[in-house]
Amino acid sequence: MQRPPPDADWMAAAIALSRRGRPASTPNPNVGCLIVKDGIVTARGWTRPGGRPHAEAMALMAAGGAARGATAYVTLEPCAHASPRGPACSDALIGAGITRVVIAAQDPDPRTDGKGIARLQEAGIEVVFNMLAAEARAAMAPWWMRRARGRPFVTLKLATSLDGCIARADGSSRWITGARARAHGHLERAQHQAILVGRATLEADAPKLDVRLPGLADRSPVKLLLTRGTAPEGWTAVASPQAIADVDSLLVEGGAGAASAFLAADRVDRLLLYRAPILIGGGKPALGDIGLADLADAHGRWRLQDSRLLGSDRLDVYERAREG
Ligand SMILES: NC(=O)c1ccc[n+]([C@@H]2O[C@H](COP(=O)([O-])OP(=O)(O)OC[C@H]3O[C@@H](n4cnc5c(N)ncnc54)[C@H](OP(=O)(O)O)[C@@H]3O)[C@@H](O)[C@H]2O)c1
Repeated sequence: MQRPPPDADWMAAAIALSRRGRPASTPNPNVGCLIVKDGIVTARGWTRPGGRPHAEAMALMAAGGAARGATAYVTLEPCAHASPRGPACSDALIGAGITRVVIAAQDPDPRTDGKGIARLQEAGIEVVFNMLAAEARAAMAPWWMRRARGRPFVTLKLATSLDGCIARADGSSRWITGARARAHGHLERAQHQAILVGRATLEADAPKLDVRLPGLADRSPVKLLLTRGTAPEGWTAVASPQAIADVDSLLVEGGAGAASAFLAADRVDRLLLYRAPILIGGGKPALGDIGLADLADAHGRWRLQDSRLLGSDRLDVYERAREG
Protein backbone atom coordinates (compact mmCIF):
# COMPACT_ATOMS: atom_id res chain seq x y z
CA MET A 1 0.00 0.00 0.00
CA GLN A 2 1.19 3.51 -0.78
CA ARG A 3 2.35 5.53 2.26
CA PRO A 4 0.12 8.56 3.01
CA PRO A 5 1.76 11.97 2.43
CA PRO A 6 3.49 13.51 5.45
CA ASP A 7 1.83 16.17 7.63
CA ALA A 8 3.72 19.00 5.91
CA ASP A 9 2.15 18.12 2.54
CA TRP A 10 -1.37 18.14 3.97
CA MET A 11 -0.64 21.45 5.68
CA ALA A 12 0.66 22.94 2.43
CA ALA A 13 -2.67 21.98 0.84
CA ALA A 14 -4.56 23.60 3.74
CA ILE A 15 -2.49 26.79 3.28
CA ALA A 16 -3.36 26.85 -0.44
CA LEU A 17 -7.05 26.59 0.56
CA SER A 18 -6.64 29.44 3.05
CA ARG A 19 -5.75 31.80 0.19
CA ARG A 20 -9.26 31.34 -1.23
CA GLY A 21 -10.62 33.35 1.68
CA ARG A 22 -8.66 36.47 0.69
CA PRO A 23 -9.82 39.20 0.91
CA ALA A 24 -13.49 38.37 1.59
CA SER A 25 -12.92 36.84 5.06
CA THR A 26 -12.05 40.23 6.54
CA PRO A 27 -12.27 41.18 9.40
CA ASN A 28 -11.47 37.56 10.28
CA PRO A 29 -8.26 35.78 9.26
CA ASN A 30 -8.40 33.65 6.10
CA VAL A 31 -7.88 30.15 7.47
CA GLY A 32 -7.78 26.82 5.63
CA CYS A 33 -8.79 23.42 7.01
CA LEU A 34 -8.45 19.88 5.66
CA ILE A 35 -9.97 16.81 7.28
CA VAL A 36 -8.07 13.64 6.45
CA LYS A 37 -8.88 10.06 7.32
CA ASP A 38 -6.92 6.97 6.32
CA GLY A 39 -4.82 9.06 3.93
CA ILE A 40 -7.86 10.46 2.11
CA VAL A 41 -9.24 14.04 2.23
CA THR A 42 -12.80 13.78 3.48
CA ALA A 43 -13.56 17.51 3.65
CA ARG A 44 -12.12 20.97 3.02
CA GLY A 45 -12.96 24.38 4.41
CA TRP A 46 -11.83 27.98 4.25
CA THR A 47 -13.13 31.08 5.99
CA ARG A 48 -16.26 32.34 4.27
CA PRO A 49 -17.02 35.91 3.20
CA GLY A 50 -17.52 38.18 6.20
CA GLY A 51 -15.50 35.80 8.37
CA ARG A 52 -18.11 33.10 9.14
CA PRO A 53 -18.45 30.18 9.05
CA HIS A 54 -14.85 29.56 10.04
CA ALA A 55 -12.78 27.12 7.98
CA GLU A 56 -13.13 24.34 10.58
CA ALA A 57 -16.92 24.77 10.74
CA MET A 58 -17.21 24.54 6.94
CA ALA A 59 -15.01 21.43 6.81
CA LEU A 60 -16.80 19.70 9.72
CA MET A 61 -20.15 20.38 8.12
CA ALA A 62 -18.95 18.77 4.87
CA ALA A 63 -17.33 15.82 6.67
CA GLY A 64 -20.35 14.90 8.81
CA GLY A 65 -19.79 11.51 10.49
CA ALA A 66 -16.54 10.99 8.55
CA ALA A 67 -14.85 13.44 10.94
CA ARG A 68 -14.88 10.81 13.71
CA GLY A 69 -11.35 9.47 14.18
CA ALA A 70 -9.91 11.84 11.52
CA THR A 71 -7.04 14.35 11.57
CA ALA A 72 -7.76 18.06 11.03
CA TYR A 73 -5.08 20.27 9.45
CA VAL A 74 -5.74 23.90 10.36
CA THR A 75 -3.60 26.88 9.31
CA LEU A 76 -4.41 28.92 12.47
CA GLU A 77 -5.05 27.68 15.99
CA PRO A 78 -8.77 26.83 16.31
CA CYS A 79 -10.61 29.54 18.22
CA ALA A 80 -11.45 29.06 21.89
CA HIS A 81 -14.22 31.66 22.08
CA ALA A 82 -17.85 31.19 21.11
CA SER A 83 -19.56 34.16 19.46
CA PRO A 84 -23.16 34.96 18.55
CA ARG A 85 -22.12 34.02 14.99
CA GLY A 86 -20.92 30.51 15.84
CA PRO A 87 -19.45 28.10 18.40
CA ALA A 88 -15.75 27.87 19.30
CA CYS A 89 -13.95 25.78 16.67
CA SER A 90 -11.92 23.90 19.29
CA ASP A 91 -15.22 22.70 20.85
CA ALA A 92 -16.64 21.86 17.42
CA LEU A 93 -13.58 19.71 16.59
CA ILE A 94 -13.88 17.90 19.94
CA GLY A 95 -17.63 17.39 19.45
CA ALA A 96 -17.13 15.97 15.95
CA GLY A 97 -14.79 13.24 17.25
CA ILE A 98 -11.58 14.50 15.60
CA THR A 99 -8.67 12.66 17.26
CA ARG A 100 -5.64 14.56 15.95
CA VAL A 101 -5.19 18.24 15.08
CA VAL A 102 -2.18 19.65 13.20
CA ILE A 103 -1.88 23.44 13.49
CA ALA A 104 0.38 25.84 11.57
CA ALA A 105 0.35 29.17 13.44
CA GLN A 106 -0.72 30.07 16.96
CA ASP A 107 -3.52 32.66 17.07
CA PRO A 108 -2.31 36.02 18.48
CA ASP A 109 -5.91 36.93 19.43
CA PRO A 110 -5.88 36.94 23.26
CA ARG A 111 -9.28 35.20 23.30
CA THR A 112 -7.55 32.13 21.79
CA ASP A 113 -3.70 32.48 21.98
CA GLY A 114 -2.81 28.99 23.27
CA LYS A 115 -6.27 28.37 24.79
CA GLY A 116 -7.52 26.58 21.67
CA ILE A 117 -4.57 24.18 21.79
CA ALA A 118 -5.00 23.63 25.54
CA ARG A 119 -8.69 22.85 25.18
CA LEU A 120 -8.01 20.25 22.47
CA GLN A 121 -5.27 18.63 24.57
CA GLU A 122 -7.49 18.55 27.66
CA ALA A 123 -10.05 16.63 25.60
CA GLY A 124 -7.40 13.97 24.86
CA ILE A 125 -6.75 15.08 21.26
CA GLU A 126 -3.20 14.76 19.95
CA VAL A 127 -2.06 18.24 18.88
CA VAL A 128 0.93 19.03 16.63
CA PHE A 129 1.70 22.72 16.19
CA ASN A 130 4.15 24.99 14.36
CA MET A 131 3.74 22.99 11.17
CA LEU A 132 4.67 25.39 8.30
CA ALA A 133 3.85 28.33 10.58
CA ALA A 134 5.79 30.91 8.52
CA GLU A 135 4.09 29.82 5.29
CA ALA A 136 0.65 29.97 6.93
CA ARG A 137 1.36 33.45 8.30
CA ALA A 138 2.50 34.60 4.85
CA ALA A 139 -0.82 33.42 3.39
CA MET A 140 -2.59 35.50 6.07
CA ALA A 141 -0.17 38.45 5.78
CA PRO A 142 -2.83 41.17 5.35
CA TRP A 143 -4.78 40.10 8.43
CA TRP A 144 -1.56 39.71 10.39
CA MET A 145 -0.25 43.14 9.34
CA ARG A 146 -3.41 45.00 10.27
CA ARG A 147 -3.59 43.21 13.61
CA ALA A 148 0.10 43.77 14.47
CA ARG A 149 0.64 47.28 13.02
CA GLY A 150 -2.83 48.70 12.48
CA ARG A 151 -2.21 49.30 8.78
CA PRO A 152 -2.78 47.42 5.53
CA PHE A 153 -0.36 45.00 3.91
CA VAL A 154 0.66 46.99 0.82
CA THR A 155 1.60 45.61 -2.58
CA LEU A 156 3.05 48.06 -5.09
CA LYS A 157 2.55 47.17 -8.75
CA LEU A 158 4.57 48.83 -11.49
CA ALA A 159 4.66 48.06 -15.20
CA THR A 160 7.87 49.31 -16.78
CA SER A 161 9.89 49.20 -19.97
CA LEU A 162 13.41 47.71 -19.93
CA ASP A 163 14.75 51.23 -19.36
CA GLY A 164 12.59 51.69 -16.25
CA CYS A 165 9.86 53.96 -17.65
CA ILE A 166 6.19 53.73 -16.61
CA ALA A 167 4.96 56.02 -19.41
CA ARG A 168 6.15 58.06 -22.36
CA ALA A 169 7.09 61.67 -21.68
CA ASP A 170 3.59 62.74 -22.81
CA GLY A 171 2.10 60.53 -20.07
CA SER A 172 0.77 57.74 -22.30
CA SER A 173 1.21 54.29 -20.75
CA ARG A 174 -1.31 52.08 -22.55
CA TRP A 175 -0.13 49.48 -22.90
CA ILE A 176 3.37 48.76 -21.71
CA THR A 177 2.81 45.08 -20.91
CA GLY A 178 0.98 42.39 -22.86
CA ALA A 179 -2.34 40.63 -22.28
CA ARG A 180 -1.01 37.87 -20.00
CA ALA A 181 0.74 40.26 -17.66
CA ARG A 182 -2.37 42.42 -17.50
CA ALA A 183 -4.55 39.39 -16.74
CA HIS A 184 -2.17 38.52 -13.90
CA GLY A 185 -2.58 42.07 -12.63
CA HIS A 186 -6.35 41.56 -12.59
CA LEU A 187 -5.93 38.39 -10.54
CA GLU A 188 -3.90 40.41 -8.05
CA ARG A 189 -6.71 42.97 -7.90
CA ALA A 190 -9.18 40.20 -7.04
CA GLN A 191 -7.05 39.29 -4.01
CA HIS A 192 -7.01 42.82 -2.57
CA GLN A 193 -9.57 44.65 -0.50
CA ALA A 194 -8.64 48.09 -1.82
CA ILE A 195 -6.74 49.57 -4.76
CA LEU A 196 -5.13 53.00 -5.02
CA VAL A 197 -3.76 55.35 -7.68
CA GLY A 198 -2.46 58.91 -7.53
CA ARG A 199 -4.60 61.78 -8.77
CA ALA A 200 -2.48 62.32 -11.91
CA THR A 201 -3.07 58.71 -12.96
CA LEU A 202 -6.81 59.15 -12.58
CA GLU A 203 -6.61 62.25 -14.76
CA ALA A 204 -4.30 60.71 -17.38
CA ASP A 205 -5.81 57.24 -17.69
CA ALA A 206 -9.29 57.31 -16.07
CA PRO A 207 -8.62 53.70 -14.97
CA LYS A 208 -11.61 51.52 -14.00
CA LEU A 209 -9.45 49.39 -11.67
CA ASP A 210 -12.02 46.59 -11.77
CA VAL A 211 -11.43 42.87 -12.15
CA ARG A 212 -12.05 41.85 -15.74
CA LEU A 213 -11.60 38.08 -15.43
CA PRO A 214 -14.41 35.59 -16.06
CA GLY A 215 -16.18 34.74 -12.80
CA LEU A 216 -14.30 37.31 -10.73
CA ALA A 217 -16.11 40.52 -11.72
CA ASP A 218 -17.66 40.76 -8.25
CA ARG A 219 -14.18 40.78 -6.67
CA SER A 220 -13.30 44.34 -7.72
CA PRO A 221 -11.64 46.17 -4.82
CA VAL A 222 -12.69 49.46 -3.24
CA LYS A 223 -11.08 52.42 -5.08
CA LEU A 224 -8.89 54.92 -3.21
CA LEU A 225 -7.36 58.09 -4.63
CA LEU A 226 -4.15 59.56 -3.23
CA THR A 227 -4.73 63.30 -3.26
CA ARG A 228 -4.56 66.28 -0.96
CA GLY A 229 -7.84 67.33 -2.57
CA THR A 230 -11.20 65.63 -2.99
CA ALA A 231 -12.22 62.51 -4.91
CA PRO A 232 -14.92 62.08 -7.57
CA GLU A 233 -17.92 59.81 -7.03
CA GLY A 234 -17.02 56.15 -6.62
CA TRP A 235 -13.62 56.98 -5.11
CA THR A 236 -12.45 57.66 -1.57
CA ALA A 237 -9.77 60.32 -1.12
CA VAL A 238 -6.82 59.51 1.11
CA ALA A 239 -4.43 62.30 2.04
CA SER A 240 -1.33 60.19 2.71
CA PRO A 241 -0.14 56.56 2.85
CA GLN A 242 -0.34 56.75 6.64
CA ALA A 243 -4.01 57.75 6.54
CA ILE A 244 -5.22 54.27 5.51
CA ALA A 245 -6.10 52.19 8.55
CA ASP A 246 -9.34 50.29 8.04
CA VAL A 247 -8.11 48.05 5.20
CA ASP A 248 -6.29 44.68 5.33
CA SER A 249 -4.78 44.54 1.85
CA LEU A 250 -4.01 47.42 -0.48
CA LEU A 251 -2.77 47.30 -4.07
CA VAL A 252 -1.01 50.51 -5.19
CA GLU A 253 -1.08 50.79 -8.98
CA GLY A 254 0.95 53.98 -9.44
CA GLY A 255 1.86 56.37 -10.83
CA ALA A 256 5.35 57.42 -9.89
CA GLY A 257 4.20 59.99 -7.31
CA ALA A 258 1.95 57.57 -5.45
CA ALA A 259 4.55 54.77 -5.61
CA SER A 260 7.26 57.09 -4.27
CA ALA A 261 5.02 58.36 -1.47
CA PHE A 262 4.39 54.80 -0.23
CA LEU A 263 8.07 53.84 -0.51
CA ALA A 264 9.23 57.02 1.24
CA ALA A 265 6.83 56.21 4.09
CA ASP A 266 8.17 52.62 4.18
CA ARG A 267 4.64 51.38 3.59
CA VAL A 268 5.36 48.85 0.83
CA ASP A 269 5.56 45.18 1.84
CA ARG A 270 5.56 43.53 -1.56
CA LEU A 271 6.66 44.67 -5.03
CA LEU A 272 5.19 43.40 -8.29
CA LEU A 273 7.43 44.49 -11.15
CA TYR A 274 6.13 43.70 -14.62
CA ARG A 275 8.87 44.43 -17.15
CA ALA A 276 8.10 44.51 -20.88
CA PRO A 277 10.79 43.90 -23.52
CA ILE A 278 10.49 47.45 -24.90
CA LEU A 279 12.60 50.61 -24.67
CA ILE A 280 10.89 53.98 -24.33
CA GLY A 281 13.76 56.43 -23.87
CA GLY A 282 13.21 59.87 -22.34
CA GLY A 283 10.04 58.56 -20.68
CA LYS A 284 8.58 58.94 -17.22
CA PRO A 285 10.71 57.18 -14.59
CA ALA A 286 9.01 54.64 -12.33
CA LEU A 287 9.92 56.52 -9.16
CA GLY A 288 10.70 60.00 -7.89
CA ASP A 289 12.42 60.76 -4.61
CA ILE A 290 11.88 58.01 -2.03
CA GLY A 291 13.96 59.67 0.68
CA LEU A 292 17.11 57.58 0.30
CA ALA A 293 19.90 59.27 2.29
CA ASP A 294 22.71 56.83 1.42
CA LEU A 295 23.08 54.20 -1.31
CA ALA A 296 24.10 51.66 1.33
CA ASP A 297 20.60 51.99 2.84
CA ALA A 298 19.06 50.72 -0.41
CA HIS A 299 20.67 47.29 -0.04
CA GLY A 300 19.16 44.35 1.82
CA ARG A 301 15.63 45.74 1.73
CA TRP A 302 14.06 43.53 -0.93
CA ARG A 303 14.07 39.75 -1.21
CA LEU A 304 13.15 38.05 -4.48
CA GLN A 305 10.15 35.76 -3.96
CA ASP A 306 9.14 34.80 -7.46
CA SER A 307 10.24 35.45 -11.01
CA ARG A 308 8.48 34.24 -14.14
CA LEU A 309 7.63 35.01 -17.72
CA LEU A 310 4.08 36.10 -18.57
CA GLY A 311 3.98 35.98 -22.34
CA SER A 312 6.99 38.08 -23.34
CA ASP A 313 6.96 40.14 -20.10
CA ARG A 314 8.86 39.29 -16.95
CA LEU A 315 7.24 39.44 -13.52
CA ASP A 316 9.52 39.78 -10.49
CA VAL A 317 7.93 39.65 -7.05
CA TYR A 318 9.90 41.00 -4.09
CA GLU A 319 9.03 41.14 -0.41
CA ARG A 320 10.27 43.76 2.02
CA ALA A 321 12.84 42.25 4.37
CA ARG A 322 11.82 43.42 7.85
CA GLU A 323 13.03 42.64 11.33
CA GLY A 324 10.55 40.71 13.50
N1 LIG B 1 3.12 51.84 -16.02
C1 LIG B 1 2.52 51.87 -14.85
O1 LIG B 1 2.59 50.94 -14.05
C2 LIG B 1 1.68 53.08 -14.51
C3 LIG B 1 0.72 52.96 -13.49
C4 LIG B 1 -0.01 54.09 -13.16
C5 LIG B 1 0.21 55.28 -13.81
N2 LIG B 1 1.12 55.32 -14.81
C6 LIG B 1 1.39 56.61 -15.50
O2 LIG B 1 1.98 57.47 -14.52
C7 LIG B 1 1.64 58.81 -14.83
C8 LIG B 1 1.11 59.48 -13.58
O3 LIG B 1 2.07 59.39 -12.55
P1 LIG B 1 2.50 60.67 -11.70
O4 LIG B 1 3.73 60.32 -10.95
O5 LIG B 1 2.54 61.84 -12.60
O6 LIG B 1 1.29 60.89 -10.72
P2 LIG B 1 0.47 60.00 -9.69
O7 LIG B 1 1.40 59.29 -8.78
O8 LIG B 1 -0.56 59.20 -10.40
O9 LIG B 1 -0.32 61.14 -8.88
C9 LIG B 1 0.38 62.18 -8.25
C10 LIG B 1 -0.58 62.85 -7.30
O10 LIG B 1 -0.77 62.01 -6.17
C11 LIG B 1 -0.98 62.81 -5.04
N3 LIG B 1 0.13 62.54 -4.13
C12 LIG B 1 1.38 62.14 -4.40
N4 LIG B 1 2.10 62.01 -3.26
C13 LIG B 1 1.27 62.31 -2.27
C14 LIG B 1 1.40 62.34 -0.86
N5 LIG B 1 2.54 62.03 -0.25
N6 LIG B 1 0.34 62.69 -0.14
C15 LIG B 1 -0.81 63.00 -0.74
N7 LIG B 1 -1.01 62.98 -2.07
C16 LIG B 1 0.03 62.64 -2.81
C17 LIG B 1 -0.93 64.25 -5.48
O11 LIG B 1 -2.26 64.60 -5.82
P3 LIG B 1 -2.85 66.08 -5.53
O12 LIG B 1 -2.04 66.99 -6.41
O13 LIG B 1 -4.28 65.99 -5.89
O14 LIG B 1 -2.61 66.35 -4.07
C18 LIG B 1 -0.08 64.15 -6.73
O15 LIG B 1 -0.31 65.23 -7.61
C19 LIG B 1 0.66 58.76 -15.95
O16 LIG B 1 1.34 59.01 -17.15
C20 LIG B 1 0.16 57.33 -15.95
O17 LIG B 1 -0.23 56.90 -17.23
C21 LIG B 1 1.86 54.27 -15.18
